[in-house]
Amino acid sequence: MLKLADDLNRRLEPQERFEQILSSAFRRFGKAVVDLSYANFYEGPGKPVLEALERAIADDRILALQYTPYGGRTVTRRLIATSLTEEYGLPFNYQHVILTPGATAALNMVFRTLFGPGEEVLLPTPCWHDYAVYLSNLGISIRTVPLAQNKHLDLEAIALATGPNTRGIVLSQPCCPTGVVYSKNELAELAKLLTEAEQRFQTAIYLVSDEVHRHIVWSGAEVYSPLLSYPRSLTIYSFGKALFIQGQRIGYVAVSPQMPEDRRLAKQLEQCERIMGYGAPTSLMQRAICDLIEYRPPLDLLARRQREARRKLKDSGFELCDGEATCFVYVKSPMADDFAFVERLAARGVLVLPSSVFLEAGHLRVSLTARGEAITRGVEAMGEVLQDARTSPSNREACER
Ligand SMILES: Cc1ncc(COP(=O)(O)O)c(C=O)c1O
Repeated sequence: MLKLADDLNRRLEPQERFEQILSSAFRRFGKAVVDLSYANFYEGPGKPVLEALERAIADDRILALQYTPYGGRTVTRRLIATSLTEEYGLPFNYQHVILTPGATAALNMVFRTLFGPGEEVLLPTPCWHDYAVYLSNLGISIRTVPLAQNKHLDLEAIALATGPNTRGIVLSQPCCPTGVVYSKNELAELAKLLTEAEQRFQTAIYLVSDEVHRHIVWSGAEVYSPLLSYPRSLTIYSFGKALFIQGQRIGYVAVSPQMPEDRRLAKQLEQCERIMGYGAPTSLMQRAICDLIEYRPPLDLLARRQREARRKLKDSGFELCDGEATCFVYVKSPMADDFAFVERLAARGVLVLPSSVFLEAGHLRVSLTARGEAITRGVEAMGEVLQDARTSPSNREACER
């Protein structure tokens, strides 16, 4: 029987509570559900992606579908390293890149390799829901540090939270769930702060930069990677996310070539892939992505959806976070209890994620990955629930925060 520590059970609770809302909405409304919660892209991947998958299947080279080395196929790793070198201007080689079945596996391997039980990791919040679940599962201590009001890094709060047990910080750039792109300046300030902390506490502090959304920038904003400011950084990537084939689970972790112990750490990550047993991606996907490393799906549809949904939500009276990337809109919940709002919306067959899932109360994450007409309906329903909540005397108090 699976036995989970109390801390882990507590961390899973909001997600499991939402899953119940989701399944009862599907039981009640069936296919009519408007699902703006998880980021499954209803339009599916583009033609070039499907064609690359077909080519990989048709490849009848000897050993094409057999085991690959730990760390992944050298050819694929090399292509990614070349592409990273161009994108970041840092000298990556194939050994810096460890292929994984998506970012989830990469994060688990990185946490297991870098941090030990009792050591502390900083999580600026709101943050992607499973960082805390994975860290807690590994017995690693978590210190949450709320982002500033505008959802950028609160550097003063991070400095105050950094102590002798701090071994790392995990953030997503661009940020999930907010869609905010951290600026070059704030990341340079963060790097300075971490370098000072390393010296003061005489210990290595790692920055895990989850960049699975770095190519989903609908606004045209420039995304600056923390790897360019801080040598003890690792970047996490997901082709699943970038190409809208999330269920195919293919991604990687890359160690910064500027890290003093880059080779040693990369080797340890390969070793970790072996000992964890689930860290190797399928050989089929390792082949398929070779043709897709430079491919960027067009984002004009997402950009139109983002602008339209943001305008409509604002017109209905919602307060929005100024995101520039990802498929998400992060919205202040009109009711202090984000779950209460989500439940009311679900009663109309519309699903969005309550921010309690992301370790922050009082907001909602709306994913613009459903079909166009469903998004329109969902956004309208949000406005209706907002009006209802404001006009019903029993709720007025809950809305006035
Ligand atoms: C910020 C972030 N990190 C990691 C993941 C997991 O990515 P993958 O599907 O490649 O495992 C997601 C997926 O939603 C995400 O949004």
